[in-house]
Amino acid sequence: MKTISTFAEYQSEYKKSVETPELFWAEHAETFTWKKKWDKVLDWNFVDLNIKWFDGGTLNITENCLDRHLETQPNQTAIIFEANDPNEPVRKITYKELHTEVCKFANVLLSNGAKKGDRICIYMPMVPEAAVAMLACARIGAIHNVVFGGFSANSLVDRINDSAVNILITSDGSFRGNKQIGLKEIADEALKLTPSVKTTIVLKRTGQTVNMLAGRDKWYHEEMQNVAATHIAAEVNAEDELFILYTSGSTGKPKGVVHTTAGYMVFAEYSFRNVFQYRHKPSPNGEGMGEAPIFWCTADVGWITGHTYIVYGPLLAGATTLMFEGIPTYPDAGRFWHAIDKHKVNIFYTAPTAIRSLMAMGDEFPAKYKMDSLQILGSVGEPINEEAWHWYHEKIGHGNCPICDTYWQTETGGFLISPLANIGKDKPAHAGFPLPGIQTILVDSEGKVLEGNGVEGNLCIKFPWPSAIRTTYGDHERCKQTYFSTYKGLYFTGDGAKRDTDGYYRILGRVDDVMNVSGHRIGTAEVENAINEHPAVVESAVVGYPHDIKGQGIYAYVICDKAIADENETRKEILAVITKVIGPIAKPDKIQFVKGLPKTRSGKIMRRILRKIAEGEVSNLGDTSTLLDPAVVEDIKIGAEKLR
Ligand code: PRX
Repeated sequence: MKTISTFAEYQSEYKKSVETPELFWAEHAETFTWKKKWDKVLDWNFVDLNIKWFDGGTLNITENCLDRHLETQPNQTAIIFEANDPNEPVRKITYKELHTEVCKFANVLLSNGAKKGDRICIYMPMVPEAAVAMLACARIGAIHNVVFGGFSANSLVDRINDSAVNILITSDGSFRGNKQIGLKEIADEALKLTPSVKTTIVLKRTGQTVNMLAGRDKWYHEEMQNVAATHIAAEVNAEDELFILYTSGSTGKPKGVVHTTAGYMVFAEYSFRNVFQYRHKPSPNGEGMGEAPIFWCTADVGWITGHTYIVYGPLLAGATTLMFEGIPTYPDAGRFWHAIDKHKVNIFYTAPTAIRSLMAMGDEFPAKYKMDSLQILGSVGEPINEEAWHWYHEKIGHGNCPICDTYWQTETGGFLISPLANIGKDKPAHAGFPLPGIQTILVDSEGKVLEGNGVEGNLCIKFPWPSAIRTTYGDHERCKQTYFSTYKGLYFTGDGAKRDTDGYYRILGRVDDVMNVSGHRIGTAEVENAINEHPAVVESAVVGYPHDIKGQGIYAYVICDKAIADENETRKEILAVITKVIGPIAKPDKIQFVKGLPKTRSGKIMRRILRKIAEGEVSNLGDTSTLLDPAVVEDIKIGAEKLR
């Protein structure tokens, strides 16, 4: 793709990507290092679900993230590490150093028996070693399965067992604001139930005391002392699995979204470079590469955003990526803005929930900092409301920085819809236009395509893009059913969207039973299953409701088997159960004890009614005559009023 600097150029690239997609993507793929070129650019079928990009090609993604940059910019900083404690010295790791670390850790994995195709779980804090671990897996052709460090032992068990992981990489603990979390201790709890894990490699981060089981648990730093600093990257097939990342759906347990190597690589780099218009500065003497702009994505590597836009996208593009270990409010609500000035960040990418919570802390925090290095801002994870958009634009970007509101999903691997920076198409609260190569359409509930502008419907994609989900680990049928069967021949995102009269997409949110809490995806069924583990609970129903800071809050209606003596005590116990089963991110904001739930005669819970009550919209609940027992609704309304 040539450099896009006007909307007309965007349109012509988009047209090319639709008319000649294979040519369009082959041109991008050509810019990478391959061990062997592909035989066929694309082979696909959305009905049986078979997507293959660059089939027949072989490569190693880490040669593209690291080795190829050693020729042009070995001393460029690849990773800047800003620790939780602002007084801890900053670490800057050059491409050359990162290459060495990754080679060494690849050798550590091999010396611990890891093989190509093995699943390796990474349960770590936001430290550079997490990126090293991911890249080392990719280097030997193993499949990484990163689990967010805020998940509980139970969640870790499920994610390890589902993919039969044999090595777990973790740390003694992690720092989060003024808290210290014992990751190894949580991992130890999990390891009692994960028979496939034979080896644990433990990074020393907090220095807290941990149990090390002889023969199984090994220290990262000790292992790194005994290995060679070189490693020849394994040759993997274009469609070999690169990673599994578990994400919530509307039913059952989280599923392992599978991404494969070459397509993901091409799209991660392409989308990063073009949306953020990432360009190295001109080299002063005309040789090699100039300085790399500083890019900071505040996500965690445990989420897809961290995978694609902290690690792979930036490193593939030879960028400098900042990794931040802490939280936005420690030591105070100016931490992000302080770090932007400290590191002269040029591109800053965060989530609306963070923007809203910092906005609520007052303008005096950003006002203390210059932030004049900023050129481009980004937003991800949920719709950004107009108020937050304007605050971000004015108080952080000082009116000078375009905002890329990037809409995408774990399953899509990279951006689907976003304004490309600097082409003047960022409109408050709108994700804008699909990237060239992404064929978005809106359909009505019957699957009829809605043509033209000024329409609203369900957002689908009708043609494959390189980083599309290939399968859900161990269950191809589930992948087919979840994403490709609602509308035959289309990938269904699960989101509703509007295409306004100017053709801009505005994402309206999930139309299924998936909540988006502080930008984290949580299934209502998952939370219900956790609540139901409390011994007094008979049944529960969970819905999302609008929340000023989190975007959506979690509202739980709970039936207990007998009258509860102390509601607050039981609430606390339920929250503790959820923390144990899933993790603190899934704790409901409101728990209402009810005697019954509104059900149809066939026993289906009428969530529409529960959602309205949670939203406080009790006057117009629609038709309740089909309910088994319409009286429960009145009871619930009264109870909800008391909770308000
Ligand atoms: O509902 C959409 C919302 O987040 C969902 C995907 O969540 P997850 O797979 O966890 O990935 C989050 C990071 C990409 C989507 O189905 N979402 C994500 N980005 C946006 C968004 N909603 C509106 N605007 C966005 N920019």
